[in-house]
Amino acid sequence: MSSNPMNGSSSPRPCTPGDYGPHARAHPVVQQFVESVADILDSTEPDAVPDRVAEALATVLATQDLLCDELRQPGIDTYRKHVLYACPDGRFTLLALVWRPGQGTDIHGHTAWGAVGVYEGHPNVACYACAETAGGTHTATETKDVRCAPGDTAVVRPGLCDTHRIYNATDELMITLHAYGRDLVIDPDAINIHLTLEG
Ligand SMILES: [Fe+2]
Repeated sequence: MSSNPMNGSSSPRPCTPGDYGPHARAHPVVQQFVESVADILDSTEPDAVPDRVAEALATVLATQDLLCDELRQPGIDTYRKHVLYACPDGRFTLLALVWRPGQGTDIHGHTAWGAVGVYEGHPNVACYACAETAGGTHTATETKDVRCAPGDTAVVRPGLCDTHRIYNATDELMITLHAYGRDLVIDPDAINIHLTLEG
């Protein structure tokens, strides 16, 4: 992960009609990011795509007025996913995830490449060595657990090689941005591979 000291606490801004909808006009910085990702997908070997997208994501993470009030709203029972942009051809989706204190994911892998960055707050990311058993369940052994900061980015590859979970162990709201290499408009959870853990 890399730090980006440019980012501070973002100031919520009023909502405008162009902020919403998977294919709607978005913040100009998001528009630039979308164009960058399209160029990356057109010109980059698949293995290098997540790192290139993470580099492009750094500018978005440093934009303090990125999210209007509605896109900063958390969920009640679990973290909330807001679709900031979905490519009409289905090649990628940009999400903002909002996490209250105590909220987090289960241990999971991903069905496509991903580039993730911290917009606000200090998420913990725990990584696991994962294996599938003969019975079809999984084992997951924690290899590290890191507290991240605004501007930090990480990438994930498809499958269970980058199995992880993200959680908010602080007493403050946190917001993370996630670019994933598939269409998530209908079902944002389609990016996740849920594990059946032994025991
Ligand atoms: Fe994840």
